[in-house]
Amino acid sequence: MSIRTVACIGAGYVGGPTMAVMAERCPDLEFVVADRDESRVRAWQAGTPPIYEPGLEEILRVALRRNLQFTTDVVSAVRQGQIIFVSVNTPTKTFGEGAGMAADLQHWEACARAIRAFADGPRIVVEKSTVPVRTAEAMDRILNDGPGPRKFEVLSNPEFLAEGTAIQDLLEPDRVLIGGPDTAQGREAVEQLVSIYARWVPRDRILTMSVWSAELAKLTANAFLAQRISSINSIAELCEATGARIGEVARAIGLDRRIGPRFLEAGIGFGGSCFRKDLLNLAYLCRVAGLDEVAEYWTAVVRMNERQQTRFVAGMLRRMFNTLADKRIALFGFAFKPDTGDTRDSPAIAIARALLAERARLAITDPRALENARRELADVTDRIEFWADPYAAARGAHAIAVLTAWREYRDLDWSELYRHMERPAFVFDGRNVLDVDALHEIGFNVVPIGAPARIHGGDPAAHLALT
Ligand code: UDX
Repeated sequence: MSIRTVACIGAGYVGGPTMAVMAERCPDLEFVVADRDESRVRAWQAGTPPIYEPGLEEILRVALRRNLQFTTDVVSAVRQGQIIFVSVNTPTKTFGEGAGMAADLQHWEACARAIRAFADGPRIVVEKSTVPVRTAEAMDRILNDGPGPRKFEVLSNPEFLAEGTAIQDLLEPDRVLIGGPDTAQGREAVEQLVSIYARWVPRDRILTMSVWSAELAKLTANAFLAQRISSINSIAELCEATGARIGEVARAIGLDRRIGPRFLEAGIGFGGSCFRKDLLNLAYLCRVAGLDEVAEYWTAVVRMNERQQTRFVAGMLRRMFNTLADKRIALFGFAFKPDTGDTRDSPAIAIARALLAERARLAITDPRALENARRELADVTDRIEFWADPYAAARGAHAIAVLTAWREYRDLDWSELYRHMERPAFVFDGRNVLDVDALHEIGFNVVPIGAPARIHGGDPAAHLALT
């Protein structure tokens, strides 16, 4: 099969940037991305993508003029593409068996059926969404059911891009995984996909393996990353109880080359569309396989993460004289991490809701995520203000809680913020991005994660559990 056109179903956080980079790197191929959401398609096609990703617009500008188009016409995309990527969302199931844990595959299966119905020749179908292990096998059965020669090869090509660095991750990936069936046709399909990536990725970073290994490698990578965060957060808690400093501990262990320095930042926990979902998914797989202890092990990573948010709010309550009722709290940042407007599973959501449950009034500010914040909290907005300007959010506040590590928060005029706040003024640095001593000098009571708080007159909540 000679590849002329690559199609993709799903123009979200993964499908859009991936196809844009592929199109930019493969000028000799055509790329068609289909999505049923008309406004999303229009935005992509106009070169103003519905997601924020540094570097994306520049890449899009080149590709849209040349060999990339976005459409709502899934049928025509399926007809045109010899390779069809499927990159639709697979959220955690909210109903029926496995609710709250298993992945909801209805969109995935609908795609498989559309491909089966409308493809008029052989196709390579590439699973790009994060899916439970053995999804490719199920897809293969749906696609190739019935008599006659096999028309479809299903490959797994999991995505490792992180939001905010998606373009960089796509241009210079640590590795590309391609899983395929160990048959003559399967191997040929794998080679076709390898040859696309090989145009810009060094061959030794393109790993080919069985479909199941590729699927499981994706879940495992995210589970390991998430587990590092929960591990460091658990030690942060111990630091607070003992007077140790998590920054110093992290630095010390990070210099061990076997551990490495990244993903050791303690804070209010991980968010985003992947970690929690993939951990639950992994645990569900284990449970279905009868491996209850293994499932329990990975579920604990999720529990430890949820604890960071309850712990953070409990710390605020304790420091602020055991009542937050009617106090104005400014939340600095709502996105699940900086450089994105994405708020999916953001720890800020749980924290905002817990503060509201204490009857606090909230003033939320974020450079990019205000609209999403409004949507996430749509059912409780009567006690919330939303401000683009952090100074306005902090005016008259009893406390500022930093929930996202936006660089600009470091550079704010903290004396100015202090001047317009209630006394005593508190800063709870949920991401350890601020200069604790400098803020304390200004007059703030400052509470970082995993290190001693600086409270004027002494920290009533400081207790050396081990003395
Ligand atoms: C993640 C994976 O990194 C990526 O490979 C995968 O394909 C999708 O999931 P993403 O969700 O975009 O990417 O974000 P990431 O940068 O990994 O951060 C996830 C969360 O962990 C954020 O909320 C971040 O604030 C938090 N985090 C990260 C920490 O709390 N501490 C750290 O040390 C690192």
